[in-house]
Amino acid sequence: MGTKDNKKVILVTGGSRGIGSAISMEMGTIENIIVVNYNHNKDHADKVVYDIKSNGGQALAIQANISLLDDCKRLFEEIHEKLGNVDVLINNAGITRDKSFKKMELEEWNTVIDTNLSSAYNTTKLALPSMLENKFGRIINISSVIGQSGGFGQTNYAAAKAGLIGFSKSLALETAKYGVTVNTICPGFIGTDMVNAMPSEVLNNIISKIPVNRLGIPSEIAKGVRYLSESAYITGQSLNINGGLYMI
Ligand SMILES: NC(=O)c1ccc[n+]([C@@H]2O[C@H](COP(=O)([O-])OP(=O)(O)OC[C@H]3O[C@@H](n4cnc5c(N)ncnc54)[C@H](OP(=O)(O)O)[C@@H]3O)[C@@H](O)[C@H]2O)c1
Repeated sequence: MGTKDNKKVILVTGGSRGIGSAISMEMGTIENIIVVNYNHNKDHADKVVYDIKSNGGQALAIQANISLLDDCKRLFEEIHEKLGNVDVLINNAGITRDKSFKKMELEEWNTVIDTNLSSAYNTTKLALPSMLENKFGRIINISSVIGQSGGFGQTNYAAAKAGLIGFSKSLALETAKYGVTVNTICPGFIGTDMVNAMPSEVLNNIISKIPVNRLGIPSEIAKGVRYLSESAYITGQSLNINGGLYMI
């Protein structure tokens, strides 16, 4: 497990901005090496790598569109070549293309499903074999409260995020005896570019319905990721970090 000097290799998809950058920073400690994956914005990824290194950690940025299996193969080849196997996989990258179902085009459906759900197939397919062999692995999938409650104009996003929960539970059953845990985190509304893109009246209306009366901050999700990464006896679970917005 890990690199020659026993550091864990942690892949954070979409690790360059928002929740992903907070996860990269939280996990970017001396005992880990972080792969900060990004798709379009290299500058953001380089900044996260720089910040991790400034704190004494190790990190590198690798571009790959995780909705494409061939890109993921290239990503994992580069990781294997430079660092070794992935010990902790954090499937965080995600997008929204909100529209009422009536108006939703097939392209908007497919892009969201491919990026938010099929990406987990792509990366997990490539990360899992060495985890099973090493009898250690952590897979943490960033789902959403919307995958539990549904969301107006979000049939594509809710389907993908609910799919991640079912995927994680099923895979957890298959991998538990090999020391590989699989869990999801369901964030509520977190103050990132994704949420800040909403019209302010919509956002204020959402905040008024959150019991703690504010948006979450990315580091609050990142702490949940750390907790799950350090837990051998939690698997097949969803950790809801949502300010009380949705209680199951
Ligand atoms: N913010 C929230 O309130 C909230 C709530 C619940 C769940 N979530 C989930 O949390 C995750 C992170 O959300 P966020 O708010 O931090 O989003 P964000 O600020 O928009 O950042 C998205 C990140 O994902 C990357 N990304 C997007 N598409 C990608 C692709 N095809 N391949 C590789 N990387 C890709 C982006 O990289 P580039 O910039 O290079 O494109 C960026 O690093 C998502 O899965 C989201 O659905 C967010």
